Amino acid sequence: MNDARQNALEYARGHREQFLDELKEFLAIPSISTSSENIPDMERAAAWVADQLRSLGMNHVEIMPTGGHPVVYGEWMGAGKSAPTVLIYGHYDIQPVDPLELWTSDPFKAEVRGDNLYARGASDMKGQVVASLKAVESVVRTSGLPVNVKWLIEGEEEIGSLNLDEFIKQHKKMLKADFCINPDAGMIAPHLPTITYALRGLAYFDIRVFGPNRDLHSGLFGGTIHNPAQALAELVAGMHDKKGRITLPGFYDDVRKLSKAERADIAHLPIKPKDFIEKTGVPALWGETEYTPEERVSARPTLEVNGLLSGFTGQGSKTVLPAWAMAKISCRLVPDQTPEKVYKQMLQYMKQHASKSIRWEVTNLHNSGVAITEKDSVGVQAMSKALEQTWGKRPLFKREGGSIGVVVQLQKHAGVDSVLTGFGLPDDNQHSPNEKLHLPTWYKGTEAFVNLFYNLT
Ligand code: BES
Ligand code: MN
Repeated sequence: MNDARQNALEYARGHREQFLDELKEFLAIPSISTSSENIPDMERAAAWVADQLRSLGMNHVEIMPTGGHPVVYGEWMGAGKSAPTVLIYGHYDIQPVDPLELWTSDPFKAEVRGDNLYARGASDMKGQVVASLKAVESVVRTSGLPVNVKWLIEGEEEIGSLNLDEFIKQHKKMLKADFCINPDAGMIAPHLPTITYALRGLAYFDIRVFGPNRDLHSGLFGGTIHNPAQALAELVAGMHDKKGRITLPGFYDDVRKLSKAERADIAHLPIKPKDFIEKTGVPALWGETEYTPEERVSARPTLEVNGLLSGFTGQGSKTVLPAWAMAKISCRLVPDQTPEKVYKQMLQYMKQHASKSIRWEVTNLHNSGVAITEKDSVGVQAMSKALEQTWGKRPLFKREGGSIGVVVQLQKHAGVDSVLTGFGLPDDNQHSPNEKLHLPTWYKGTEAFVNLFYNLT
């Protein structure tokens, strides 16, 4: 067995160039799930993944339809009934690339600069998907998989895994596994392998405020009509108080108090307030002062304005009173909040605060549940050992602020718990211009997956 492991690791080390070339190929497909223009690219990306799975000798490789973008499924059950089954999760969709002018190189022509590979999706999460594919390749080309594997590679993660819920409900038997390995959660720093044990939930809203039936001359009507841009700004500004707390009625009622022990664990992580300033370039931090920045981004709920739109924003000036205004707002949620309840709280807030001088509408675009995963399962132990074998040090355990819909969906419908890890870094510019992947960490990640498979037998 040891030989098998060594041979697979050597294969991985000897094929880095090929792995990188294939990742570049995958990154060249603009699989932006939120944009309907990119539907053909979504299909190409799904086909690329399916081809990879077939070339690895997986059986039942299938591009399966959902109500939205398809799921790529594949499995290899050749290790037999007594061997464990690992479900490998990934998403082939990516975030949009705007503003394009801020990219140093083309987001769809992956470019290596120094130790990093720059492209949209390099870190979130095509790089992670390819790491898992290439780990399996390293094993199957040298000996054979010691475990059964199933693959669930979806195309809607970046838009809230909307149709995956129903898909999992309908295919719970197919997806049955001892655990799911989910490398979409990243790590703290290149030298600090990480296992994530909690993710925040998400409730995403589109809020629209309507005023007059058309844009008006501000000189003729200003002062008589409640400007929708202003009305919306007032509403949005009122969603936080002076202390940075969220004012939606009842918002904190279900927020579980952080225990002393957990606060101590978080305080021990090698993450300092100044790191947030250094990584973002802001002049000062903001937020609930009674919690540390690391607590605020992982274990406290938030409300963020993702975007605002109204009126004239072109070159020059135009004296206009806009007919409508729109905000995209999302809340990150923690135990025991639910997106459904937060939607009701948002409606309640709007009812209480919106003035009679405007009309409004709130649409709940998508939701993601709050996820807590086991800290000491067989899967966590095997992954933890694999990270230690690869990095020479034990992983850190932390909560993450992002959301990954599939985690709760798999727990709820298929009874499958996830092991959350990954080889993306906090400075990878996920969702931002110049997204990148740190290649030395990525190569190590591939080796960690190889180790994982051998740790399960
Ligand atoms: N990989 C991220 C989630 C993530 C980010 C986990 C940081 C841990 C740390 C994932 O691709 C993502 O961005 N998810 C979206 C989901 C949302 C649209 C429901 C997110 O968190 O915004
Ligand atoms: Mn993402």
